[in-house]
Amino acid sequence: MSSQLQAHPGATAFAARQHSMLIGGQWVQAAHGKTFETHDPATGEVLAVLPAGDSEDIDRAVKTARAALEHPSWRDMHPAQRGKLIHKLGDLILEHADELATLETLDNGKPFAVARAADIPLAADLFHYMAGWATKLNGGTISLSVPYMPDSKFHAYTLREPIGVVGQIIPWNFPLLMAAWKLGPALTTGCTVVLKPAEQTPLSALRLGELIQEAGFPDGVVNIVTGLGEDAGAPLAAHPDVDKIAFTGSTDVGKLIVHAAADNLKKVSLELGGKSPNLLFDDADMAAAVPGVANAVFFNQGQVCCAGSRLYVQDKVYDEVLQGMSDVAKSVKVGNGLDPETDMGPLTSQEQLDRVTGYLSIGEQEGARTVTGGNRIGSRGYFVEPTILADTDHNMRVVQEEIFGPVISVAPFKDVEDLTRKANDSHYGLAAGVWTKDLSKAHRAAAAIKAGTVWVNCFNVFDAALPFGGFKQSGWGREMGAEVLENYLQVKAVTIQI
Ligand code: NAI
Ligand code: MG
Repeated sequence: MSSQLQAHPGATAFAARQHSMLIGGQWVQAAHGKTFETHDPATGEVLAVLPAGDSEDIDRAVKTARAALEHPSWRDMHPAQRGKLIHKLGDLILEHADELATLETLDNGKPFAVARAADIPLAADLFHYMAGWATKLNGGTISLSVPYMPDSKFHAYTLREPIGVVGQIIPWNFPLLMAAWKLGPALTTGCTVVLKPAEQTPLSALRLGELIQEAGFPDGVVNIVTGLGEDAGAPLAAHPDVDKIAFTGSTDVGKLIVHAAADNLKKVSLELGGKSPNLLFDDADMAAAVPGVANAVFFNQGQVCCAGSRLYVQDKVYDEVLQGMSDVAKSVKVGNGLDPETDMGPLTSQEQLDRVTGYLSIGEQEGARTVTGGNRIGSRGYFVEPTILADTDHNMRVVQEEIFGPVISVAPFKDVEDLTRKANDSHYGLAAGVWTKDLSKAHRAAAAIKAGTVWVNCFNVFDAALPFGGFKQSGWGREMGAEVLENYLQVKAVTIQI
């Protein structure tokens, strides 16, 4: 399948070494000495051995994070200095971009070129953007008129303070970027963190831990505990001394997080699944729209929470669009992400391979028409074909459920009312796409769609300044932009009688 593999030597050496977790500035093994293995998605072979943290490690990390939160070296650090450290971290990510991108390919499977062009610079951007906020987290002054104290005067103001010790649990589809989305705002606001990377892809977070030390953050501000979801993630979500938990992953685990957080009423933000609709009108610029809607689901092997996985095409152009998408799908070169020729890598895990191929069978049983793809590729590694399922019915599971693979369902539409109803008939509400040259149509659709993001004549466009998050069961709160800061701040009102 692959010919010339190009791996950054620093990254392969990093993957092969003995790994530790970062707690209180020390690199340590799990308290019980347990380990777990990760696998190279392109071969299925063992890639790395990591400490399997559990509740004892989480407890140690939380205690350290609590101490760091109260320590003058962080608590009293001037916001401008905090901003400088965060900016430096962004710079260090760019300095090590090739190495970090290779780690993402080794761990996650995605093409190196994609990680190098998207994941890594976006992660750096996030820190650079957040660095600027550190000095702008101002409160306000408020004039009071208290009815039962008519003769009194007050000076009242608000302070915006860090929420405290934060637990952050992240997934494997954009390992470094998800760490950045989470850590950036937590650090900007002066919180301290226990980060639990996904057990499939912990390497780039550990390398980031080293860069965090190099940037000069005080010990204990960021702690990184590797381990399985149930063993390390669950005790973090339930920990009584964690003030806030931020989670990105499956909607099912998101619900578990909410239950686990209930005991001490920790604040919760969630970025969960999606089944994002793409609406393609017959007046769209087809040369852009056809590859646009195809790549909306094929990008990152379809392992994207906001993947445009449900496509609705206006009936007049339905056949033309299917033909064009099929040409795009067939031109996608699937292979080892370290091969520079590769457009699409393997899925990230055996679990994902089983899930996606399972949905391919379900689609077939439900009567969807496979236009192209539909199969696993080979028997080594976790590769599947880019797949287009046409003529799908709204009630099919492949239309309703998140597949998280390079699989798109396509259905024609005639009537715009019916289209909007179908687009919104989902438990999810993360993102949507609209393709048309008619501005009024685009604005009307953008207003009618129940989703946290609407892209018009584009898809998967991200920027650190743009809030991202879900309506309905796609989540609570927003990542990025000014909005994310509210997840990590609490407001104190100070009232002084003068
Ligand atoms: P997951 O939700 O189980 O894993 C995400 C993170 O949560 C990982 O760090 C994991 O260790 C942790 N976790 C798992 N169980 C936990 C628990 N009980 N308490 C606390 N933390 C826990 O997702 P998984 O199993 O890797 O993938 C299943 C499906 O979830 C995917 O096929 C996809 O549909 C969806 N998903 C959505 C993502 C998104 O970006 N919204 C990302 C990853 C998965
Ligand atoms: Mg899971």
